[in-house]
Amino acid sequence: MTELLVQIEDVSKEYIAGAIRVIALQEISLTVERGEFLAIVGPSGSGKTTLLNLIGALDRPTRGRVVVDGIDLGALRGDQLADFRRERIGFVFQLFHLVPDLTALENVMLPLIPYRRQLKFNLEQRARALLEAVGLENRMRHLPGQLSGGEQQRVAIARALIGNPKLLLADEPTGNLDSQTGKEIVELLRRLNREQGLTVIVTTHNPEIVAWSDRVVRLRDGRIVKA
Ligand SMILES: Nc1ncnc2c1ncn2[C@@H]1O[C@H](COP(=O)(O)OP(=O)(O)O)[C@@H](O)[C@H]1O
Ligand SMILES: [Mg+2]
Repeated sequence: MTELLVQIEDVSKEYIAGAIRVIALQEISLTVERGEFLAIVGPSGSGKTTLLNLIGALDRPTRGRVVVDGIDLGALRGDQLADFRRERIGFVFQLFHLVPDLTALENVMLPLIPYRRQLKFNLEQRARALLEAVGLENRMRHLPGQLSGGEQQRVAIARALIGNPKLLLADEPTGNLDSQTGKEIVELLRRLNREQGLTVIVTTHNPEIVAWSDRVVRLRDGRIVKA
C-alpha cells in the first residue's frame, strides 16, 4: 500500500457557462501523503474549491487523473462514486450545511442512516462519541439555529467523521467564523490529524491554518505557484 493517499496527475478543469469557457485548473500535479495536514491557499477564484471537489469525487476533471487511496476516480460510476465518498471522505464547508430541523445528533447520524443495518457499530453511540470528541456533549439535542457558528462547525466536523474517513476535505472551514472561534476550529482539525492520523486538506485564507500546516500549496489562476 502506497504512502500516497492522493495523487493528482496533470489535472485540468474547464467549466462551460453559456458561451464562456473558464479554465479553473490548469495542469495541476500534486501528491498528498497519508497523515499529512495540507493547506491550499490562493485568491478567490484561483481554483481551490474546484481542486477539493475533484479530490472528493464531487466533480470530474476535464483532463488528467485523480487517484485517492489507490482508487482511480475516473473509473468510478454512479453508486461507486457515492460509495467512495461515503466510505473514504469527510467534507466540511464554510457555511456548515447542517439540516436546520434536525438536532446536532441527528445531523451527525444523517449520512449513514440509510446504511444503518449494514453497520458494524451502533450509529447513535458513534455520533454521540464524535460530538463529545468535538466538545459538544451538552448540545446533542440542540438545533443548528440554537448553536453558535463555531458549534455548528463542530457538528459539521463530527458529521464528516461519522463514516471514519481516511481524508477530511475542508473548504474554508473558518471563513465564516470570528478569529477566536476560527482558531479553536483549526486546533480541533489539527488535533484530529495528530491523534487519529486523519489526513486533512483545507483551503483557507486563515494565517493560523497556514502556520499549523505541514505544507502549503499556493494556487493562482488555476496553477500551482511556488511560494
Ligand atoms: N460551476 C461552475 N461553472 C462555471 N465556472 C465555475 C464553476 N465553478 C467555479 N467556476 C469558476 O472557476 C474558477 C475557480 O473557482 P473556485 O474553484 O470556486 O475558486 P476558489 O475556491 O479559489 O475561490 C472561478 O473563475 C470560478 O468562477
Ligand atoms: Mg472556494
